[in-house]
Amino acid sequence: MTFTLSEQSALLKPIQVGGTAAGNRLFMAPLTRSRADADGTPSSLAAQYYAQRASAGLIISEATAVCEQANGAYLNTPGLYTDRQQDKWSEIASAVHRAGGKMFVQLWHVGRMAHPEISGFETVGPSPIAADLLTHTPTGKKPLPVPRALTTGEIAEIVGQFRAAARRAVDAGMDGVEIHSANGYLLHEFLSDVVNQRTDAYGGSPQNRARLAAEVVEAVVAEIGPDRVGLRISPGNSAGDMREIDDVSAYEALLCRIASLGIAYLHVLIEPSAPAFAAVRTQWEGTLVLNTPRTVETDFAMLENLADWGVISAAAVGRAFLANPDLIERLKLGAELNEPDVATFYAPGPDGYIDYPTLDEMVTPRSA
Ligand SMILES: Cc1cc2nc3c(=O)[nH]c(=O)nc-3n(C[C@H](O)[C@H](O)[C@H](O)COP(=O)(O)O)c2cc1C
Repeated sequence: MTFTLSEQSALLKPIQVGGTAAGNRLFMAPLTRSRADADGTPSSLAAQYYAQRASAGLIISEATAVCEQANGAYLNTPGLYTDRQQDKWSEIASAVHRAGGKMFVQLWHVGRMAHPEISGFETVGPSPIAADLLTHTPTGKKPLPVPRALTTGEIAEIVGQFRAAARRAVDAGMDGVEIHSANGYLLHEFLSDVVNQRTDAYGGSPQNRARLAAEVVEAVVAEIGPDRVGLRISPGNSAGDMREIDDVSAYEALLCRIASLGIAYLHVLIEPSAPAFAAVRTQWEGTLVLNTPRTVETDFAMLENLADWGVISAAAVGRAFLANPDLIERLKLGAELNEPDVATFYAPGPDGYIDYPTLDEMVTPRSA
């Protein structure tokens, strides 16, 4: 596949994202790569992997657990709750900055998407409603269990864990954090009118369902300042067996509650033709980053148009950055893009991780 970005393209123009000066408006979307150590420390190859992609306007890291219990959807995903993990994130931040890039860490709690054989803990969520999915455990594919509903005390602890992980991210030298409230994980589960059947202050009305995500945003903003905080949502996305019916009102309540905080950006994973996108776009006055759900190929022409028309502030792209460390350069030149190798998305080791060639390396291979 090839696509040539026009020299005048808004996507190639710099943008101030909160406190971060991004050199262009094509961001790297968060991508779980399952290469972390068993204790949640990012892989020793992660600094190289991210630094290779430093020409993205902003790199958003793979989803990263805010505490040990927050993990468990996939094997070998990283965390940011121990000193060892923080040290490795610090190496990653330095490598990306040395290469001229900017980087936020995406923070998550997987909620009902966890399997105890991966997490080592009881699975929790807003309500005892299981995701009707199979997950890869160390002993094969298994159904996800019925989660135990979190108590309000535990919810408060989780808010504190997001706050503490955000502090660690900044202390590690990261430019900021993205709060993961999308794709069927804990904060998205609370927003849903299907998965969240609570009758306390965290369930029922749109305001109540938005409460947890809002409290996390507020706590993280209080800790590291609004300039370093992004939020990712995916209204109506069925990932994680979400089956959202009323997919807008809780998001409207969330955006209304956090509007005055002035966070760095809102990152929306959605098809721009979806009515929920129009609702979010109308309501959100701040920086808006769009990532379109998985289709066969990224529609760069559409993203370029949306940015040129001022509908979006920036676009996030996942698999194209995964396979093309020099994506920006290739798009400027209209060069052929490397195809992502699905078989190595979540496989351990360097293959399909740090060995996608740049254009220069295709002329002069790395081994030469
Ligand atoms: C291998 C892989 C891992 C992903 N991991 C994450 C993740 O950690 N956090 C997240 O919010 N989205 C994750 N996603 C979703 C991507 O951020 C993105 O929304 C999706 O790939 C569609 O964008 P694209 O067509 O540009 O790749 C992942 C997608 C893929 C393919």
